[in-house]
Amino acid sequence: MIYLDNAASSFPKPPDVITAMETVMREYAANPGRGTHQLSMKASRVLFEARSKAAKLFGVKNCDNIAFTKNATEALNLAIHGLLKPGDHVITSSLEHNSVRRPLEFLRQQGVIELTYIQADERGRFHAESIRPAIRENTRLIAMTHGSNLTGTLMPIAEIGQIAKEHGILLLVDACQTAGVYPIDVEAMNISLLAFTGHKSLYGPQGTGGLYIHPDVELVPLMQGGSGGYSELIEMPPTRPDRYEAGTPNTVGFAGLLAGLNFIEATGRETIREHEEALTTRLHQGLREIAGVTVYGPPLGEPRVPIVSFTVEGFESHEIGFILDKNYNICVRTGLHCAPLAHETVGSIEHGLVRVSIGFFNTEAEIEALLEAVRDIAM
Ligand SMILES: Cc1ncc(COP(=O)(O)O)c(C=O)c1O
Repeated sequence: MIYLDNAASSFPKPPDVITAMETVMREYAANPGRGTHQLSMKASRVLFEARSKAAKLFGVKNCDNIAFTKNATEALNLAIHGLLKPGDHVITSSLEHNSVRRPLEFLRQQGVIELTYIQADERGRFHAESIRPAIRENTRLIAMTHGSNLTGTLMPIAEIGQIAKEHGILLLVDACQTAGVYPIDVEAMNISLLAFTGHKSLYGPQGTGGLYIHPDVELVPLMQGGSGGYSELIEMPPTRPDRYEAGTPNTVGFAGLLAGLNFIEATGRETIREHEEALTTRLHQGLREIAGVTVYGPPLGEPRVPIVSFTVEGFESHEIGFILDKNYNICVRTGLHCAPLAHETVGSIEHGLVRVSIGFFNTEAEIEALLEAVRDIAM
């Protein structure tokens, strides 16, 4: 089987991820932060180490400013609902995943915020300067993906961060498609809020994610509940990360995420990126050479994450996905990819696209096998 749906969830996972999760379940699946006995302390240690490793990856000085969540969607909801107040204006892009768009649209429909979409061009390219004319006096937040999960566009986040800084606007970045592969430094890029998910290119399991919250940014917690400490208080603790982490955390999952982060550190982010970019270039070139295939997203050579989306003339996108799965044992994603606006942007909303997304464990031979299969189908 050839797995090319890593933008949805990476697979396979490094063996150490599985071992780490199994070890927790076998040896110390106690409640972290809820006791002082040895097993609880051991579980707490895992969370602390995972938090520290994530902080290091994103240039965060104090790991307490990272709140763990169950995925990026929860992190984005915490950021958006926790920050925005009536009368705030938000700028976002036409490439956003529904995890950014839906909470923003919810607040707009409730009459809480004003919302402006900045359009990417028909190739999915986004120009940071196009944000400036949309800035208003009440613009509180710019909410942007770092990498489009449809077109593969790698957004100019450092430039956007600079614009945000010049205007005293907060920047929320959705790093789902970039964390673990592309450099992210929250300070150098002026990122106030950074949402990430554990199960994609951080190689952790589903059920893990997090939000970096700048020390000067105060969010209203999304949930209230037990936090281990400050039990005498009627409200959530004032201290981070407990303030934003109600309920027993996913220790098993974060042990897996820690192993995933260790894998990235040991392998080297550059090595991962170079491998994935080389395969992406080959895939992009190969698809463009097939008659009847249309490739979407930025032209070859422009910044992109390891995602290439395409159509084959005469086929619906889901038909291609079905044939690849059933006849060739190749897993890809088809349809609208939770990003209908991005499809509108590149003109594929009617028919959807076939998305191929590459991970570190993919090989050149697998890309050639996919190209061969698409050639067969397109004939
Ligand atoms: C760009 C982007 N944002 C947000 C998400 C949501 O991630 P999760 O499902 O882990 O919350 C995804 C996942 O597909 C994504 O690709």
